[in-house]
Amino acid sequence: MTESYETIQYDVLVIGAGGAGLRAATEAAAQGARTGLVSKSLLGKAHTVMAEGGLAAAMGNVDSRDNWKVHFRDTMRGGKMVNNWKMAHIHAMEAPDRVKELEEWGAVFDRTADGRILQRPFGGHQYPRLVHVGDRTGLEMIRTLQNHSIHQGFGIHTECVITHLLKDGDRLAGAFGYWRTSGKFVLFQAKAVVLATGGVGRVFNFTSNSWECTGDGHALAMRAGAEIIDMEFIQFHPTGMVWPPSVRGVLVTEGVRGEGGVLLNSQGERFMFRYIPEMFAADVASTPEEASRWLAGDSTARRPPELLTRDVVARAIRSEVDQGRGSPHGGAFLNIASQRTPDYIRRKLPSMYHQFMKLANLDITKEPMEVHPTCHYIMGGMRVDAETAHSRVPGLFGAGEVTGGMHGANRLGGNSLSDLLVFGRRAGLHAAQFAAGQNGFAAIDPKQIETAQQESLIPFHQAAQGEKTENPYQLLADLRTMMEARAGIWRTQEGLEKGLQELNTLKERASHLSVAGGRAYNPAWNYAVDLHNMLLVAEAIMVSALHREESRGGHTRVDFPTSSSDLEKVTTVVNLKDGGLAWKKEARPTMPDELKELLK
Ligand code: FUM
Repeated sequence: MTESYETIQYDVLVIGAGGAGLRAATEAAAQGARTGLVSKSLLGKAHTVMAEGGLAAAMGNVDSRDNWKVHFRDTMRGGKMVNNWKMAHIHAMEAPDRVKELEEWGAVFDRTADGRILQRPFGGHQYPRLVHVGDRTGLEMIRTLQNHSIHQGFGIHTECVITHLLKDGDRLAGAFGYWRTSGKFVLFQAKAVVLATGGVGRVFNFTSNSWECTGDGHALAMRAGAEIIDMEFIQFHPTGMVWPPSVRGVLVTEGVRGEGGVLLNSQGERFMFRYIPEMFAADVASTPEEASRWLAGDSTARRPPELLTRDVVARAIRSEVDQGRGSPHGGAFLNIASQRTPDYIRRKLPSMYHQFMKLANLDITKEPMEVHPTCHYIMGGMRVDAETAHSRVPGLFGAGEVTGGMHGANRLGGNSLSDLLVFGRRAGLHAAQFAAGQNGFAAIDPKQIETAQQESLIPFHQAAQGEKTENPYQLLADLRTMMEARAGIWRTQEGLEKGLQELNTLKERASHLSVAGGRAYNPAWNYAVDLHNMLLVAEAIMVSALHREESRGGHTRVDFPTSSSDLEKVTTVVNLKDGGLAWKKEARPTMPDELKELLK
């Protein structure tokens, strides 16, 4: 029997209230669509704020040699050439406009001496390109988008968990879920839905991601019949805090290295000079002396190897630790104190200064930090059209980290903030246009609602019936430990196969998840719901990683240590078929000659 539920109707429903969701909702509302925004969490509480060091846009304010062509080239090279080049092209061309728009809406960026928007160096970007506000750029962006968007007149629904996307035939018809505050059910009927749910980082143990990042959108998309691509590519940001244990994984912005911070092993060696890949040898300084000249502002010197792409730096740190040259708590030393004055550090990196002072009792203007790679971002996600952000499910759009393709095998720092502005706008625009072209709402079969309710409440029934029961907290901890061990920075066929067997056991255990108590603010229930998404996402990551027999960007196979020119031509695709996960590889579209020219 179906329990009563609230029904709310919108032309466009945006799920997720980080930067991508806010930008999409702003645009949809500006197009005249009746728009609603749903957040599982509270407004402003988004992983967007973890992009601290800046937003990449080729404005050329600090180095006039920069332009969209160089940005496109850097993005493709950083992504190890498997990016959706159409997305990378649009992104590089549109990012500066999105920055200017954000400034018009009230963002207060740091300035150059002559009053233009200041840009800082970041890994893999040839020129200083990151527009920033100290080390609080994501926060400023969310603040600006929120302040601007509240005047756009769209509905905001916080602490609402979407558990199911509903369809009428092929077409998206709405979303179903419950309020975390009351546990009561809610139906959103919508003509178009934009997924902007962010990433999956919580499936790993050591992560910069907050509790919200459980791959909900990835799983909702798969269950709605969308295709998911490139799930093997996980970004381990080189610098997460390693100490104290309560903050393990918390991000240390790449801005620290952008401002000159150096990486050292336990022997005091600046080890990154030993890890410069052939592909980037011409781009970075080959000696500490050249790196020092770069720091002093010599424009003929190349950037230091600490500013190689994240995949390279993360592997280097991990190799040093594995070879017994790690710091006392199992990481590397990141030292900015030896490179910049205390005043400069406090001015440029205020959050880092306070973060270490408050959480680790460490003054970074005097002492080095200890850091280790932390799961930060997933490059894989729902496949969408580059122009319209439309998935292959009519009415289902996506923007930001939940989508795949833009960043290839490795994202450059700062490219996610610009990505979510560029494609958030496009998703909102095209979702509004799609909705305007529909004749009313699609029909929703009441049976779908009944099933959605039953599935969500299973953990309560299991507790009531006293069957074999499984604790969601324990299962979650076991899943995260398994993923760290089997699908972390180093991967092997044997490890991934074992991981998939272990995942089967975890899935079996998940069918006995049991929670007690009421439905209002019940964290165990919320975890049980999240776990169903996380288990599916974990499987998509491992299956894709097992099939890609090469190393590329954020996917390192110890048993296939080099990149394969054949696999450069393919995208891995997963979708749900007959209740199971199907995998295939697909040829990537050929790049036009004029873009190929830019990569030379
Ligand atoms: O290191 C950082 O500030 C993170 C930036 C990003 O992920 O884009």
